[in-house]
Amino acid sequence: MAGTGIFTEILDGEVYKYYSDGEWKTSSSGKSVAIVNPATRKTQYKVQACTQEEVNKVMEMAKSAQKSWAKTPLWKRAELLHKAAAILKDNKAPIAESLVKEIAKPAKDSVTEVVRSGDLISYCAEEGVRILGEGKFLLSDSFPGNERTKYCLTSKIPLGVVLAIPPFNYPVNLAVSKIAPALIAGNSLVLKPPTQGAVSCLHMVHCFHLAGFPKGLISCITGKGSEIGDFLTMHPAVNCISFTGGDTGISISKKAGMIPLQMELGGKDACIVLEDADLDLVASNIIKGGFSYSGQRCTAVKVVLVMESVADELVEKVKAKVAKLTVGPPEENCDITAVVSESSANFIEGLVMDAKEKGATFCQEYKREGNLIWPLLLDNVRPDMRIAWEEPFGPVLPVLRISSVEEGINHCNASNFGLQGCVFTKDINKAMLISDAMETGTVQINSAPARGPDHFPFQGLKDSGIGSQGVTNSINLMTKVKTTVINLPTPSYSMGAGFISRL
Ligand code: G3H
Repeated sequence: MAGTGIFTEILDGEVYKYYSDGEWKTSSSGKSVAIVNPATRKTQYKVQACTQEEVNKVMEMAKSAQKSWAKTPLWKRAELLHKAAAILKDNKAPIAESLVKEIAKPAKDSVTEVVRSGDLISYCAEEGVRILGEGKFLLSDSFPGNERTKYCLTSKIPLGVVLAIPPFNYPVNLAVSKIAPALIAGNSLVLKPPTQGAVSCLHMVHCFHLAGFPKGLISCITGKGSEIGDFLTMHPAVNCISFTGGDTGISISKKAGMIPLQMELGGKDACIVLEDADLDLVASNIIKGGFSYSGQRCTAVKVVLVMESVADELVEKVKAKVAKLTVGPPEENCDITAVVSESSANFIEGLVMDAKEKGATFCQEYKREGNLIWPLLLDNVRPDMRIAWEEPFGPVLPVLRISSVEEGINHCNASNFGLQGCVFTKDINKAMLISDAMETGTVQINSAPARGPDHFPFQGLKDSGIGSQGVTNSINLMTKVKTTVINLPTPSYSMGAGFISRL
Protein backbone atom coordinates (compact mmCIF):
# COMPACT_ATOMS: atom_id res chain seq x y z
CA MET A 1 0.00 0.00 0.00
CA ALA A 2 1.14 3.55 -0.75
CA GLY A 3 2.96 5.21 2.15
CA THR A 4 3.61 1.94 4.00
CA GLY A 5 6.49 -0.56 4.27
CA ILE A 6 9.66 0.94 2.84
CA PHE A 7 7.69 4.11 2.06
CA THR A 8 6.67 4.87 5.67
CA GLU A 9 9.37 7.51 6.05
CA ILE A 10 8.02 9.63 3.21
CA LEU A 11 4.81 10.29 5.11
CA ASP A 12 4.31 12.69 8.04
CA GLY A 13 0.89 11.94 9.52
CA GLU A 14 -1.39 12.40 6.57
CA VAL A 15 0.89 14.67 4.53
CA TYR A 16 3.63 13.37 2.24
CA LYS A 17 7.06 14.93 2.81
CA TYR A 18 9.29 16.53 0.23
CA TYR A 19 12.84 15.35 -0.54
CA SER A 20 15.85 17.58 -0.03
CA ASP A 21 19.49 17.00 0.91
CA GLY A 22 18.98 13.23 0.93
CA GLU A 23 16.22 13.46 3.56
CA TRP A 24 12.45 13.47 3.73
CA LYS A 25 11.27 16.76 5.19
CA THR A 26 8.21 18.68 6.31
CA SER A 27 7.90 22.17 4.88
CA SER A 28 8.34 25.15 7.18
CA SER A 29 5.22 26.64 5.52
CA GLY A 30 3.06 24.40 7.69
CA LYS A 31 0.76 24.21 4.66
CA SER A 32 -0.18 21.38 2.38
CA VAL A 33 -1.70 20.92 -1.06
CA ALA A 34 -4.64 18.55 -1.44
CA ILE A 35 -4.70 15.97 -4.21
CA VAL A 36 -8.22 15.17 -5.34
CA ASN A 37 -9.02 11.69 -6.56
CA PRO A 38 -10.55 12.27 -10.04
CA ALA A 39 -12.99 9.39 -9.64
CA THR A 40 -14.32 10.07 -6.13
CA ARG A 41 -13.68 13.86 -6.27
CA LYS A 42 -12.56 13.63 -2.63
CA THR A 43 -9.16 14.53 -1.21
CA GLN A 44 -7.02 11.42 -1.54
CA TYR A 45 -3.58 12.64 -0.48
CA LYS A 46 -1.82 15.74 0.76
CA VAL A 47 1.69 16.96 -0.07
CA GLN A 48 3.89 19.71 1.37
CA ALA A 49 3.44 23.27 0.11
CA CYS A 50 7.14 24.10 -0.14
CA THR A 51 8.42 27.65 0.12
CA GLN A 52 10.74 29.67 -2.10
CA GLU A 53 13.38 29.43 0.62
CA GLU A 54 13.17 25.66 0.45
CA VAL A 55 13.61 25.88 -3.31
CA ASN A 56 16.72 28.02 -2.78
CA LYS A 57 18.14 25.43 -0.40
CA VAL A 58 17.49 22.59 -2.83
CA MET A 59 19.18 24.51 -5.65
CA GLU A 60 22.22 25.22 -3.51
CA MET A 61 22.53 21.50 -2.66
CA ALA A 62 21.97 20.51 -6.27
CA LYS A 63 24.77 22.80 -7.43
CA SER A 64 27.27 21.48 -4.96
CA ALA A 65 26.28 17.78 -5.27
CA GLN A 66 26.62 18.01 -9.05
CA LYS A 67 30.28 18.99 -8.82
CA SER A 68 31.28 15.70 -7.17
CA TRP A 69 28.75 13.65 -9.16
CA ALA A 70 30.39 14.82 -12.39
CA LYS A 71 33.62 13.29 -11.07
CA THR A 72 31.94 9.96 -10.28
CA PRO A 73 32.97 7.34 -12.86
CA LEU A 74 30.36 6.65 -15.50
CA TRP A 75 30.10 2.96 -14.62
CA LYS A 76 29.32 3.88 -10.99
CA ARG A 77 26.57 6.28 -12.08
CA ALA A 78 25.14 3.50 -14.25
CA GLU A 79 25.34 1.01 -11.38
CA LEU A 80 23.25 3.27 -9.13
CA LEU A 81 20.69 3.80 -11.87
CA HIS A 82 20.34 0.04 -12.37
CA LYS A 83 19.82 -0.30 -8.63
CA ALA A 84 17.10 2.38 -8.60
CA ALA A 85 15.39 0.65 -11.55
CA ALA A 86 15.32 -2.67 -9.70
CA ILE A 87 13.91 -1.10 -6.51
CA LEU A 88 11.26 0.72 -8.54
CA LYS A 89 10.16 -2.47 -10.27
CA ASP A 90 10.15 -4.44 -7.00
CA ASN A 91 7.80 -1.83 -5.56
CA LYS A 92 5.50 -1.42 -8.51
CA ALA A 93 2.34 -2.23 -6.52
CA PRO A 94 2.25 0.74 -4.10
CA ILE A 95 3.40 3.15 -6.81
CA ALA A 96 0.77 1.89 -9.22
CA GLU A 97 -1.81 2.20 -6.46
CA SER A 98 -1.06 5.88 -6.05
CA LEU A 99 -1.31 6.38 -9.81
CA VAL A 100 -4.77 4.82 -9.71
CA LYS A 101 -5.87 7.05 -6.85
CA GLU A 102 -4.46 10.39 -7.91
CA ILE A 103 -4.80 10.31 -11.71
CA ALA A 104 -7.41 7.56 -12.19
CA LYS A 105 -5.18 5.56 -14.51
CA PRO A 106 -6.56 2.01 -14.91
CA ALA A 107 -4.79 -0.37 -12.50
CA LYS A 108 -3.15 -2.51 -15.19
CA ASP A 109 -1.85 0.52 -17.09
CA SER A 110 -0.51 1.96 -13.84
CA VAL A 111 1.59 -1.14 -13.26
CA THR A 112 2.77 -0.97 -16.88
CA GLU A 113 3.84 2.64 -16.35
CA VAL A 114 6.05 1.71 -13.40
CA VAL A 115 7.63 -1.30 -15.10
CA ARG A 116 8.22 0.70 -18.30
CA SER A 117 9.90 3.35 -16.16
CA GLY A 118 12.27 0.83 -14.57
CA ASP A 119 13.19 -0.43 -18.03
CA LEU A 120 13.76 3.12 -19.23
CA ILE A 121 16.16 3.83 -16.36
CA SER A 122 18.17 0.68 -17.08
CA TYR A 123 18.27 1.35 -20.82
CA CYS A 124 19.42 4.88 -20.14
CA ALA A 125 22.22 3.66 -17.88
CA GLU A 126 23.43 1.32 -20.61
CA GLU A 127 23.10 3.86 -23.39
CA GLY A 128 24.87 6.43 -21.25
CA VAL A 129 27.97 4.32 -20.65
CA ARG A 130 28.24 3.75 -24.39
CA ILE A 131 27.61 7.22 -25.81
CA LEU A 132 29.21 9.25 -23.04
CA GLY A 133 32.26 7.04 -23.19
CA GLU A 134 32.90 8.12 -26.76
CA GLY A 135 34.08 11.39 -28.25
CA LYS A 136 35.31 12.65 -31.62
CA PHE A 137 38.74 13.27 -33.03
CA LEU A 138 39.00 15.91 -35.76
CA LEU A 139 41.94 16.97 -37.88
CA SER A 140 42.49 20.58 -38.96
CA ASP A 141 43.51 19.96 -42.59
CA SER A 142 40.00 19.08 -43.74
CA PHE A 143 39.13 22.80 -43.57
CA PRO A 144 40.51 24.98 -46.42
CA GLY A 145 43.74 26.80 -45.66
CA ASN A 146 44.81 24.53 -42.80
CA GLU A 147 47.70 22.15 -42.45
CA ARG A 148 47.43 19.15 -40.16
CA THR A 149 48.69 21.00 -37.12
CA LYS A 150 45.64 20.76 -34.86
CA TYR A 151 44.07 17.72 -33.28
CA CYS A 152 40.64 18.39 -31.84
CA LEU A 153 39.25 16.08 -29.14
CA THR A 154 35.56 16.36 -28.28
CA SER A 155 33.71 14.96 -25.30
CA LYS A 156 30.35 15.55 -23.61
CA ILE A 157 30.16 17.33 -20.29
CA PRO A 158 27.16 17.82 -17.98
CA LEU A 159 25.15 21.03 -17.95
CA GLY A 160 24.78 21.34 -14.16
CA VAL A 161 21.34 21.40 -12.54
CA VAL A 162 18.43 19.99 -14.55
CA LEU A 163 14.90 20.96 -13.57
CA ALA A 164 12.38 18.26 -14.48
CA ILE A 165 8.65 18.97 -14.65
CA PRO A 166 6.58 15.97 -15.73
CA PRO A 167 2.82 16.02 -16.47
CA PHE A 168 -0.06 14.40 -14.62
CA ASN A 169 -0.71 11.72 -17.23
CA TYR A 170 2.66 9.93 -16.85
CA PRO A 171 4.02 11.34 -13.58
CA VAL A 172 6.42 8.44 -13.06
CA ASN A 173 7.44 7.58 -16.60
CA LEU A 174 7.84 11.12 -17.83
CA ALA A 175 9.75 11.97 -14.65
CA VAL A 176 12.28 9.15 -15.06
CA SER A 177 12.62 9.95 -18.77
CA LYS A 178 14.14 13.22 -17.54
CA ILE A 179 15.85 12.03 -14.34
CA ALA A 180 17.79 9.08 -15.77
CA PRO A 181 19.44 10.92 -18.71
CA ALA A 182 20.22 13.89 -16.49
CA LEU A 183 21.94 11.71 -13.89
CA ILE A 184 23.86 9.42 -16.20
CA ALA A 185 25.23 12.51 -17.93
CA GLY A 186 26.58 13.86 -14.62
CA ASN A 187 23.91 16.45 -13.84
CA SER A 188 22.00 16.93 -10.61
CA LEU A 189 18.24 16.89 -10.73
CA VAL A 190 15.43 18.90 -9.17
CA LEU A 191 11.99 17.43 -9.70
CA LYS A 192 8.76 19.40 -9.49
CA PRO A 193 5.95 16.87 -9.87
CA PRO A 194 2.48 17.81 -11.08
CA THR A 195 0.04 18.16 -8.18
CA GLN A 196 -1.93 15.14 -9.35
CA GLY A 197 0.82 12.58 -9.67
CA ALA A 198 2.95 14.04 -6.89
CA VAL A 199 2.53 11.11 -4.52
CA SER A 200 3.49 8.61 -7.23
CA CYS A 201 6.56 10.77 -7.96
CA LEU A 202 7.53 10.90 -4.28
CA HIS A 203 7.38 7.10 -4.08
CA MET A 204 9.52 6.86 -7.24
CA VAL A 205 12.06 9.31 -5.82
CA HIS A 206 12.30 7.19 -2.66
CA CYS A 207 13.48 4.31 -4.86
CA PHE A 208 16.38 6.52 -6.00
CA HIS A 209 17.01 7.45 -2.35
CA LEU A 210 17.17 3.78 -1.36
CA ALA A 211 19.53 3.05 -4.24
CA GLY A 212 22.06 5.30 -2.49
CA PHE A 213 22.53 8.37 -4.69
CA PRO A 214 24.59 11.10 -3.02
CA LYS A 215 22.82 13.66 -0.82
CA GLY A 216 21.45 16.70 -2.63
CA LEU A 217 21.91 15.19 -6.09
CA ILE A 218 18.19 14.51 -6.47
CA SER A 219 15.50 16.64 -4.88
CA CYS A 220 11.74 16.66 -5.12
CA ILE A 221 9.86 19.85 -4.34
CA THR A 222 6.07 19.84 -4.09
CA GLY A 223 3.75 22.82 -3.82
CA LYS A 224 1.57 25.31 -5.55
CA GLY A 225 2.58 26.43 -9.02
CA SER A 226 1.46 29.96 -8.11
CA GLU A 227 3.94 30.01 -5.20
CA ILE A 228 6.99 28.20 -6.55
CA GLY A 229 6.35 27.59 -10.29
CA ASP A 230 7.97 30.69 -11.81
CA PHE A 231 10.47 30.80 -8.98
CA LEU A 232 11.73 27.35 -9.97
CA THR A 233 11.73 27.84 -13.73
CA MET A 234 13.43 31.24 -13.50
CA HIS A 235 15.90 30.19 -10.79
CA PRO A 236 19.45 31.24 -11.67
CA ALA A 237 20.86 27.88 -10.55
CA VAL A 238 18.90 25.97 -13.20
CA ASN A 239 20.95 25.02 -16.27
CA CYS A 240 18.33 23.06 -18.23
CA ILE A 241 14.56 22.60 -18.07
CA SER A 242 12.83 19.46 -19.26
CA PHE A 243 9.08 20.02 -19.23
CA THR A 244 6.13 17.99 -20.44
CA GLY A 245 2.65 19.44 -20.22
CA GLY A 246 0.32 21.99 -21.70
CA ASP A 247 0.84 25.50 -22.96
CA THR A 248 2.38 26.53 -19.62
CA GLY A 249 5.51 25.33 -21.41
CA ILE A 250 5.22 28.21 -23.87
CA SER A 251 5.31 30.75 -21.04
CA ILE A 252 8.14 28.86 -19.32
CA SER A 253 10.17 29.02 -22.52
CA LYS A 254 9.58 32.78 -22.78
CA LYS A 255 10.72 33.37 -19.20
CA ALA A 256 13.60 30.88 -18.99
CA GLY A 257 17.11 32.20 -19.35
CA MET A 258 19.74 31.19 -21.90
CA ILE A 259 19.54 27.49 -21.09
CA PRO A 260 18.69 24.37 -23.09
CA LEU A 261 14.99 23.51 -23.04
CA GLN A 262 13.31 20.21 -23.70
CA MET A 263 9.58 20.76 -24.07
CA GLU A 264 6.71 18.54 -25.05
CA LEU A 265 3.49 20.50 -25.06
CA GLY A 266 0.74 18.38 -26.53
CA GLY A 267 -0.61 17.59 -29.93
CA LYS A 268 -3.60 17.27 -32.18
CA ASP A 269 -2.48 14.03 -33.77
CA ALA A 270 -4.22 13.38 -37.06
CA CYS A 271 -5.10 9.95 -38.39
CA ILE A 272 -5.33 10.04 -42.19
CA VAL A 273 -7.20 7.10 -43.67
CA LEU A 274 -6.91 6.32 -47.39
CA GLU A 275 -9.39 4.30 -49.49
CA ASP A 276 -7.15 1.22 -49.62
CA ALA A 277 -6.58 1.03 -45.84
CA ASP A 278 -7.32 -2.10 -43.84
CA LEU A 279 -10.35 -0.67 -42.03
CA ASP A 280 -10.33 -3.26 -39.26
CA LEU A 281 -6.75 -2.34 -38.46
CA VAL A 282 -7.67 1.36 -38.59
CA ALA A 283 -10.65 0.88 -36.27
CA SER A 284 -8.58 -1.00 -33.67
CA ASN A 285 -5.91 1.69 -33.79
CA ILE A 286 -8.46 4.48 -33.48
CA ILE A 287 -9.81 2.81 -30.34
CA LYS A 288 -6.34 2.25 -28.88
CA GLY A 289 -5.03 5.61 -30.05
CA GLY A 290 -8.07 7.72 -29.27
CA PHE A 291 -9.48 6.19 -26.11
CA SER A 292 -6.68 4.58 -24.07
CA TYR A 293 -6.31 6.35 -20.74
CA SER A 294 -9.52 8.12 -21.74
CA GLY A 295 -7.74 10.11 -24.46
CA GLN A 296 -5.46 11.84 -21.94
CA ARG A 297 -2.26 11.29 -23.90
CA CYS A 298 -0.47 13.92 -25.89
CA THR A 299 -0.03 11.27 -28.59
CA ALA A 300 -3.69 10.27 -28.64
CA VAL A 301 -5.41 10.20 -32.03
CA LYS A 302 -7.23 13.52 -31.79
CA VAL A 303 -8.75 13.86 -35.23
CA VAL A 304 -9.63 11.24 -37.85
CA LEU A 305 -9.39 12.45 -41.46
CA VAL A 306 -10.99 9.75 -43.56
CA MET A 307 -11.64 9.58 -47.29
CA GLU A 308 -15.37 10.04 -47.87
CA SER A 309 -15.70 6.77 -49.85
CA VAL A 310 -14.72 4.61 -46.85
CA ALA A 311 -15.97 6.88 -44.06
CA ASP A 312 -19.36 5.19 -43.47
CA GLU A 313 -17.76 1.76 -43.17
CA LEU A 314 -15.00 2.99 -40.87
CA VAL A 315 -17.37 4.90 -38.61
CA GLU A 316 -19.57 1.80 -38.24
CA LYS A 317 -16.55 -0.33 -37.28
CA VAL A 318 -15.33 2.22 -34.74
CA LYS A 319 -18.85 2.63 -33.32
CA ALA A 320 -19.09 -1.11 -32.74
CA LYS A 321 -15.80 -1.06 -30.83
CA VAL A 322 -16.71 2.05 -28.81
CA ALA A 323 -19.82 0.20 -27.64
CA LYS A 324 -17.56 -2.46 -26.10
CA LEU A 325 -15.43 -0.02 -24.07
CA THR A 326 -16.03 -0.37 -20.34
CA VAL A 327 -16.62 2.79 -18.34
CA GLY A 328 -16.05 3.12 -14.60
CA PRO A 329 -13.49 2.96 -11.78
CA PRO A 330 -9.76 2.66 -12.53
CA GLU A 331 -9.47 0.02 -9.79
CA GLU A 332 -11.63 -2.26 -11.97
CA ASN A 333 -9.46 -1.67 -15.02
CA CYS A 334 -12.24 0.03 -16.93
CA ASP A 335 -11.17 1.32 -20.34
CA ILE A 336 -12.67 4.75 -19.72
CA THR A 337 -12.14 6.34 -16.31
CA ALA A 338 -12.75 9.79 -14.87
CA VAL A 339 -10.74 12.57 -16.49
CA VAL A 340 -8.23 14.24 -14.24
CA SER A 341 -10.29 17.16 -12.93
CA GLU A 342 -13.61 18.91 -13.02
CA SER A 343 -12.14 21.76 -15.04
CA SER A 344 -10.90 19.26 -17.66
CA ALA A 345 -14.32 17.65 -17.80
CA ASN A 346 -15.95 21.08 -18.21
CA PHE A 347 -13.52 21.98 -21.00
CA ILE A 348 -14.28 18.72 -22.84
CA GLU A 349 -17.98 19.34 -22.42
CA GLY A 350 -17.55 22.81 -23.92
CA LEU A 351 -16.01 21.28 -27.06
CA VAL A 352 -18.81 18.72 -27.28
CA MET A 353 -21.53 21.37 -26.94
CA ASP A 354 -19.88 23.54 -29.58
CA ALA A 355 -19.86 20.57 -31.98
CA LYS A 356 -23.51 19.86 -31.16
CA GLU A 357 -24.60 23.43 -31.87
CA LYS A 358 -22.75 23.38 -35.17
CA GLY A 359 -24.33 20.13 -36.32
CA ALA A 360 -21.83 17.26 -35.75
CA THR A 361 -23.30 13.76 -35.81
CA PHE A 362 -23.22 12.13 -32.37
CA CYS A 363 -22.49 8.42 -32.79
CA GLN A 364 -23.33 7.88 -29.11
CA GLU A 365 -25.36 9.87 -26.66
CA TYR A 366 -23.24 12.38 -24.69
CA LYS A 367 -23.08 11.23 -21.09
CA ARG A 368 -21.19 12.60 -18.10
CA GLU A 369 -21.25 11.86 -14.38
CA GLY A 370 -18.88 14.03 -12.36
CA ASN A 371 -15.50 13.73 -14.07
CA LEU A 372 -16.49 10.57 -15.91
CA ILE A 373 -17.28 11.15 -19.57
CA TRP A 374 -18.51 8.27 -21.71
CA PRO A 375 -16.57 7.66 -24.95
CA LEU A 376 -17.93 9.70 -27.80
CA LEU A 377 -17.30 9.61 -31.53
CA LEU A 378 -18.36 12.74 -33.40
CA ASP A 379 -18.89 12.24 -37.12
CA ASN A 380 -19.25 14.87 -39.85
CA VAL A 381 -17.15 17.35 -37.90
CA ARG A 382 -16.32 20.44 -39.93
CA PRO A 383 -13.35 22.81 -39.69
CA ASP A 384 -15.51 25.54 -38.13
CA MET A 385 -15.98 23.43 -34.99
CA ARG A 386 -13.56 23.87 -32.08
CA ILE A 387 -13.12 20.09 -31.71
CA ALA A 388 -11.54 20.02 -35.20
CA TRP A 389 -8.56 21.96 -33.81
CA GLU A 390 -8.48 21.86 -30.02
CA GLU A 391 -7.13 19.07 -27.85
CA PRO A 392 -9.94 17.64 -25.70
CA PHE A 393 -7.60 15.49 -23.61
CA GLY A 394 -10.61 13.27 -23.00
CA PRO A 395 -12.54 10.40 -24.57
CA VAL A 396 -14.08 12.41 -27.41
CA LEU A 397 -12.93 11.88 -30.97
CA PRO A 398 -13.90 13.91 -34.05
CA VAL A 399 -14.12 12.45 -37.57
CA LEU A 400 -13.70 14.78 -40.55
CA ARG A 401 -14.55 13.37 -43.95
CA ILE A 402 -12.12 14.40 -46.67
CA SER A 403 -12.38 14.26 -50.43
CA SER A 404 -8.63 14.16 -51.14
CA VAL A 405 -5.41 13.22 -49.36
CA GLU A 406 -4.24 16.84 -49.81
CA GLU A 407 -7.25 18.02 -47.82
CA GLY A 408 -6.18 15.71 -44.95
CA ILE A 409 -2.57 16.85 -45.09
CA ASN A 410 -3.64 20.51 -45.20
CA HIS A 411 -5.84 20.05 -42.15
CA CYS A 412 -3.00 18.36 -40.27
CA ASN A 413 -0.54 21.10 -41.24
CA ALA A 414 -2.89 23.96 -40.41
CA SER A 415 -2.80 22.94 -36.74
CA ASN A 416 -0.63 24.94 -34.35
CA PHE A 417 0.50 21.53 -33.04
CA GLY A 418 2.86 19.13 -34.79
CA LEU A 419 3.56 16.23 -32.47
CA GLN A 420 2.71 12.98 -34.26
CA GLY A 421 0.33 11.81 -36.92
CA CYS A 422 -0.51 8.55 -38.62
CA VAL A 423 -1.49 7.36 -42.04
CA PHE A 424 -3.26 4.14 -42.98
CA THR A 425 -2.75 2.73 -46.49
CA LYS A 426 -1.41 -0.44 -48.06
CA ASP A 427 0.66 1.63 -50.49
CA ILE A 428 4.03 2.24 -48.81
CA ASN A 429 5.12 4.67 -51.53
CA LYS A 430 2.08 6.88 -50.90
CA ALA A 431 2.61 6.52 -47.16
CA MET A 432 6.16 7.82 -47.45
CA LEU A 433 5.07 10.84 -49.50
CA ILE A 434 2.32 11.63 -47.00
CA SER A 435 4.71 11.19 -44.08
CA ASP A 436 7.09 13.69 -45.66
CA ALA A 437 4.25 16.13 -46.28
CA MET A 438 2.91 16.03 -42.70
CA GLU A 439 4.42 18.73 -40.49
CA THR A 440 4.76 16.61 -37.36
CA GLY A 441 7.71 15.29 -35.37
CA THR A 442 6.77 11.67 -36.11
CA VAL A 443 4.46 9.92 -38.54
CA GLN A 444 3.36 6.37 -37.84
CA ILE A 445 2.51 4.27 -40.85
CA ASN A 446 -0.35 1.82 -40.21
CA SER A 447 -0.37 2.31 -36.44
CA ALA A 448 -1.63 4.84 -33.92
CA PRO A 449 0.74 7.54 -32.68
CA ALA A 450 2.82 6.62 -29.63
CA ARG A 451 5.97 7.82 -27.93
CA GLY A 452 7.37 4.38 -27.22
CA PRO A 453 9.43 2.31 -27.36
CA ASP A 454 11.05 4.82 -25.05
CA HIS A 455 14.41 4.88 -26.85
CA PHE A 456 12.84 6.15 -30.08
CA PRO A 457 13.32 9.86 -30.78
CA PHE A 458 10.22 11.80 -29.74
CA GLN A 459 9.72 15.42 -30.70
CA GLY A 460 7.12 17.93 -31.72
CA LEU A 461 7.14 20.71 -34.27
CA LYS A 462 5.53 24.14 -33.82
CA ASP A 463 3.67 24.52 -30.47
CA SER A 464 4.22 20.83 -29.72
CA GLY A 465 7.71 21.31 -28.42
CA ILE A 466 11.37 22.14 -28.39
CA GLY A 467 14.19 19.60 -28.63
CA SER A 468 13.90 15.87 -28.99
CA GLN A 469 13.37 13.18 -26.37
CA GLY A 470 14.02 9.45 -26.36
CA VAL A 471 16.93 8.11 -24.36
CA THR A 472 19.84 9.07 -26.62
CA ASN A 473 18.49 12.48 -27.55
CA SER A 474 17.75 13.32 -23.93
CA ILE A 475 21.27 12.41 -22.85
CA ASN A 476 22.68 14.56 -25.65
CA LEU A 477 20.37 17.45 -24.80
CA MET A 478 21.49 17.35 -21.17
CA THR A 479 25.16 17.63 -22.07
CA LYS A 480 27.35 20.17 -23.77
CA VAL A 481 30.23 19.46 -26.13
CA LYS A 482 33.65 20.29 -24.77
CA THR A 483 36.70 20.36 -27.02
CA THR A 484 40.41 20.27 -26.35
CA VAL A 485 42.72 21.18 -29.23
CA ILE A 486 46.30 19.93 -29.38
CA ASN A 487 48.44 22.35 -31.43
CA LEU A 488 51.51 20.93 -33.14
CA PRO A 489 54.55 23.04 -34.06
CA THR A 490 54.75 21.37 -37.51
CA PRO A 491 52.19 19.57 -39.68
CA SER A 492 52.04 15.83 -39.05
CA TYR A 493 50.61 13.76 -41.89
CA SER A 494 51.64 10.17 -41.87
CA MET A 495 53.57 7.48 -40.15
CA GLY A 496 57.26 7.09 -40.83
CA ALA A 497 60.35 8.74 -39.38
CA GLY A 498 61.12 11.26 -42.22
CA PHE A 499 59.98 14.24 -40.18
CA ILE A 500 62.16 13.54 -37.15
CA SER A 501 65.13 15.41 -38.63
CA ARG A 502 62.97 18.58 -38.65
CA LEU A 503 62.44 18.43 -34.90
O1 G3H B 1 1.22 12.31 -23.01
C1 G3H B 1 2.31 12.33 -23.54
C2 G3H B 1 3.14 11.15 -23.60
O2 G3H B 1 4.45 11.50 -23.99
C3 G3H B 1 2.56 10.08 -24.49
O3 G3H B 1 3.21 8.88 -24.29
O4 G3H B 1 2.58 7.70 -26.39
O5 G3H B 1 3.52 6.47 -24.45
O6 G3H B 1 1.21 7.40 -24.38
P1 G3H B 1 2.59 7.55 -24.92
